[in-house]
Amino acid sequence: IPVDDFDLVIFGGTGDLARRKILPGLYRRFCAGQMPETARIIGAARSEHDTEEFRQLVRDAIREFSTKNTCDEGQIGAFLERLDYVQVDARGSDGWDALKEMMRDGVVKAYYFSVAPSLFGDIAERLQSYGIADESARIVVEKPFGRDLDSAKKLNADLAKHFDETQIYRIDHYLGKETVQNLMAVRFGNILFEPLWNSQYVDHIQITVAETVGVGGRGEYYDRSGAMRDMVQNHLMQLLCLIAMEPPSRFDPDAVRDEKLKVIRALEPVDHHSIVRGQYEATATEPSYREDAGDPRSTTESFIALRCMISNWRWAGTPFFLRTGKKLKARTSEIAVMFKDAPHSIFGEEAGRHANVLSIRLQPNEGMTLKVTIKEPGPGGMRLVDVPLDMSFAEALGDDAEEITDAYERLIMDVIRGNQTLFMRGDEVEAAWAWTDPLIESWEKRGDMPKAYEAYSSGPEEAAMMLHREGRRWREIK
Ligand code: BG6
Repeated sequence: IPVDDFDLVIFGGTGDLARRKILPGLYRRFCAGQMPETARIIGAARSEHDTEEFRQLVRDAIREFSTKNTCDEGQIGAFLERLDYVQVDARGSDGWDALKEMMRDGVVKAYYFSVAPSLFGDIAERLQSYGIADESARIVVEKPFGRDLDSAKKLNADLAKHFDETQIYRIDHYLGKETVQNLMAVRFGNILFEPLWNSQYVDHIQITVAETVGVGGRGEYYDRSGAMRDMVQNHLMQLLCLIAMEPPSRFDPDAVRDEKLKVIRALEPVDHHSIVRGQYEATATEPSYREDAGDPRSTTESFIALRCMISNWRWAGTPFFLRTGKKLKARTSEIAVMFKDAPHSIFGEEAGRHANVLSIRLQPNEGMTLKVTIKEPGPGGMRLVDVPLDMSFAEALGDDAEEITDAYERLIMDVIRGNQTLFMRGDEVEAAWAWTDPLIESWEKRGDMPKAYEAYSSGPEEAAMMLHREGRRWREIK
């Protein structure tokens, strides 16, 4: 279904994110027939280009980064026709009048700030002072949204001077992932799971986002963030909220975001025995984290594991284990709900212990598996065995699986539609920092050193120990 006609301006339109994600994503929506005939995309950046050069840059980006082969050269050409370029100075006066000239009346206006957060306030201010943005205009901002509570508050305040909260779309691309949304469908579209979704039946929950890439190439940025700021404060926190929140009364932006906020606010502080930080070591051919970061004494973590507790009636007593890291054994993201053992085994001790596990795979091979216990087939008596009830989206959807949209594509279309459900509200981001800040301060104050871990392993031994201590085990990263 095509969205309403729009003019989308991408500040930082020649930058890395625009080339890798935003523009190829828009191109795929164009191919899918979702962009109205007259919709336009305007690249805005400091560098001197004309529209032809910008189109060439986008053509190259599509060829390099568009994974799906659904379009031919003719379609690329038609897409490029929609593109314009304007040179603007975010901190000066150049280009703003020209941009105003380009914007049409009576269409949706959206402004994507794909630039450093230090420019958010300047751009927001100019969009208003030059009369470029109207009351229904939308702005889209990217992470990192601050590096602590104070800086996030300042960014929120800078944007709030010029735009209403209903106009601000803070992207966390994890919320645009198909399986992440499916998590809500599974929880709230079925009667099966919700009655069991609490500390009475759930032993614990594991959220893992493992990557095989290192930080080479973006070491400088990463070393100032670390896994906590880069991944936990935003992506893992969002996953935690969706898995733990109460059912919202409606699937609408504020109903959903109110419930997520309550989860963040109910998170207990984490003491240092419940945090393990790590740094990957060098291999025979690849540099160590510290070499990638360009600082031989860096204490930034490329891996983190945490044990979190949520203080509310539903979850009191159920730990949530979060873990994410670079250069781990496999690229895999999953949420696993580990249920308790059945209260009594009628089959006796020899049948062993069996507990159900619901695992939701975000990537790759998006899908869900429910581990259930059955009788081992055959005449060998009442032996129990665990088998997976497996649902792979690719198989379940058949040819339609190709239709699984990339997170950015979906989110940008939601901006045009004016749907904020999958975007973070200002108070959510602040609450997440309010929980994160004391943890970071505490390890900085203690002078905590990250533990070394072998590249392409499961992370530092200490992370495994954290669960062993209480008779639990991480799921294998594979
Ligand atoms: C980004 C982080 O937000 O998410 C990166 O800055 C990380 O460090 C990336 O690699 C992971 O995203 P995805 O979609 O590949 O899981």
